[in-house]
Amino acid sequence: MPVHVGPLYREHEVAIGPVDVDAILAAPVVADVLTAKEWLAEALVRDDAYYFTVSWRGTVVGQILPHDINHNNAAFWNTAPSGAAAPSQTMETQEALVAFHIFATTHCGKGIGTTAVTLLQRYVTDGTMLRTLIINTSRDNRASQRVAQKCGFVLVAEGPNRSDPQDYLSYMWTVSLARNKI
Ligand SMILES: CC(C)(COP(=O)(O)OP(=O)(O)OC[C@H]1O[C@@H](n2cnc3c(N)ncnc32)[C@H](O)[C@@H]1OP(=O)(O)O)[C@@H](O)C(=O)NCCC(=O)NCCS
Repeated sequence: MPVHVGPLYREHEVAIGPVDVDAILAAPVVADVLTAKEWLAEALVRDDAYYFTVSWRGTVVGQILPHDINHNNAAFWNTAPSGAAAPSQTMETQEALVAFHIFATTHCGKGIGTTAVTLLQRYVTDGTMLRTLIINTSRDNRASQRVAQKCGFVLVAEGPNRSDPQDYLSYMWTVSLARNKI
């Protein structure tokens, strides 16, 4: 289940919800997030990602997805048929990275990115067994850092790291700390 098939999560004019592949592919994209659409292709074939469309006033404007979900599907989807516990190794971690993109600059700065992350936190809290979300961002990506901060993520690490020579900041949010705030 690599793309969301459940109900919309909505706040005011922003929603995250099921994937309309044609609308995603047709959405105008600025050059620096062109590669963002590659996430859709990835999500369709990976089982460690879970893709949502981001819409604003009913129009597709972006995407958001937990990825590198480091536990098995039963733990994430919370749909183990018999209610069987997931393997202990996966139950211990329950962590995912978050990717999010607003496709066009005309839609940036309206609070859509912040609301999309807030809605993902609500989904994770209500509908999954995930416990930790991580936003990794480059040091010069102020918009992404502000989204993380405004959504209650805490700076936990900064790079450079070995796999990515670019300077980065790593923000973490934990369900248990926020259960009553979302
Ligand atoms: C990051 C991104 C999703 C933010 O989406 P958005 O809808 O514009 O964000 P919001 O409108 O909710 O704004 C959140 C904060 O970022 C700030 N911000 C937005 N664009 C900014 C920019 N270009 N430079 C600096 N700050 C910016 C806003 O002012 C706001 O902060 P404030 O409340 O202190 O004023 C969007 O800029 C984007 O898609 N960027 C390219 C992809 C990307 O970097 N993804 C994140 C990878 S980790």
